[in-house]
Amino acid sequence: MEQLVIKGGNKLKGEVRICGAKNSAVALIPATILFDGDSTISNLPQISDTKLLASILSEMGAKVDFKDDKMRINTDNIAHGTENELKAGKIRASYYLAGALLGKYKEAVIPLPGGCNLGTRPIDLHIKGFEKLGAQVEISHGMLKLKAKKLVGTKIYLDVVSVGATINIMLAAVMAEGTTTIENAAKEPHIVDVANMLNEAGANISGQGTDIITIHGVKSLHGVKHKTIPDQIETGTYMIAAAATGGDVKIKNICLEHMASVIEKLRDANVQVDVLDEETVRVTRKKPLLGISVKTLPHPGFPTDLQSPMGALLTVASGTSMITESIWENRFKYTDELNKMGSEITVTDRTAQIKGVTKITGARVKAPDLRGGVALVIAGLMAQGTTIVSGVEHVNRGYEDIEGKLKSLGADIRLEEVDE
Ligand code: EPZ
Repeated sequence: MEQLVIKGGNKLKGEVRICGAKNSAVALIPATILFDGDSTISNLPQISDTKLLASILSEMGAKVDFKDDKMRINTDNIAHGTENELKAGKIRASYYLAGALLGKYKEAVIPLPGGCNLGTRPIDLHIKGFEKLGAQVEISHGMLKLKAKKLVGTKIYLDVVSVGATINIMLAAVMAEGTTTIENAAKEPHIVDVANMLNEAGANISGQGTDIITIHGVKSLHGVKHKTIPDQIETGTYMIAAAATGGDVKIKNICLEHMASVIEKLRDANVQVDVLDEETVRVTRKKPLLGISVKTLPHPGFPTDLQSPMGALLTVASGTSMITESIWENRFKYTDELNKMGSEITVTDRTAQIKGVTKITGARVKAPDLRGGVALVIAGLMAQGTTIVSGVEHVNRGYEDIEGKLKSLGADIRLEEVDE
């Protein structure tokens, strides 16, 4: 088992380069199932989720070569029937295998999705979309089985804005007969990235990034060379970490357009964010932090995936901060761990009230999930004394070399292997 040992108090200083987006990557990789011939996806993060997807696809018969930030992939001989009782259950995004296999082969058998435990994580909207396109859906013995004689375009309204359902329906509909519209579609940056890659492969998708996505089905798709967009959440995480330590960090290779809500909230909290160009921001904090209210919302609102890092930052902001989580029912588990470090957070339903304290102190804490884990790392950087964060496997799912990147910014952090 790995744990991160952090001696708090160092101000982060220097430059950090942001990787490609995890939540794009986990959709772009399975989307290549739809393509004929070779594809190369670049700017991919080397994280356990992308490595796992690479190994799942090669177990399924794809040719996959994943080196540095590039994945070369050919899925022409992939298995798509009952034989796929794979590792796919370990990551939430395994459900994109379902949409892609259904779209290409009209059948899919995959284990039900895993991923972070953030409360109930239903897939009813994915299923509704597949059924409306003409698929028969069966769930038995932990497996999701899809089969269609043919897929026919239709109008699909999502009554909850869902990133996963929007992407999965695009994957299933891209080669359906006729036209599909997704109404009340999610608008997250990675939806646009996936739609753009599909279009580069010959698809006819429009409206990505708006509430209504229109997909005119095409007969086939060819291999592509695609560059993954920068990770909005990794960007926000390093911005918050810089602010939390009173540091001065230049964050490079970002997409400024995706960061508007985060920049706004950091500025409200008295953090200085200077935009150097469309791909670079500099975050400094010289003044005391001010308490603020934050509500998570679908894009372009404040991202739920930055709610926990923001919660860590606000533990030492003056006054009382309020965080309302409107996407997930159970994303405040990290606050119990922060309270072990001396923060004063009370959670009622979906709102956390954070009474600012003057300092937090090191403790032994456990990452409850990916973003909750990184919140604890940020808290460790701010705290007086030593913090030991266990459950690092959660953090490794979404952050490339977090230890190395933080070290290069001057953090006193080391990864340790310990017995279970
Ligand atoms: C994606 O999850 C991200 N994961 C999550 O990031 C992110 O928190 C979430 O979108 C919201 O932005 C990936 O992209 C791999 P949803 P997803 O479907 O697609 C409800 C991280 O930390 N819902 O947009 O699973 C659901 O319960 C991860 O990187 C239904 O009711 O999220 C939730 O309340 C964690 N029925 C809301 O919609 C459905 O069929 C949004 O979920 C599907 C979802």
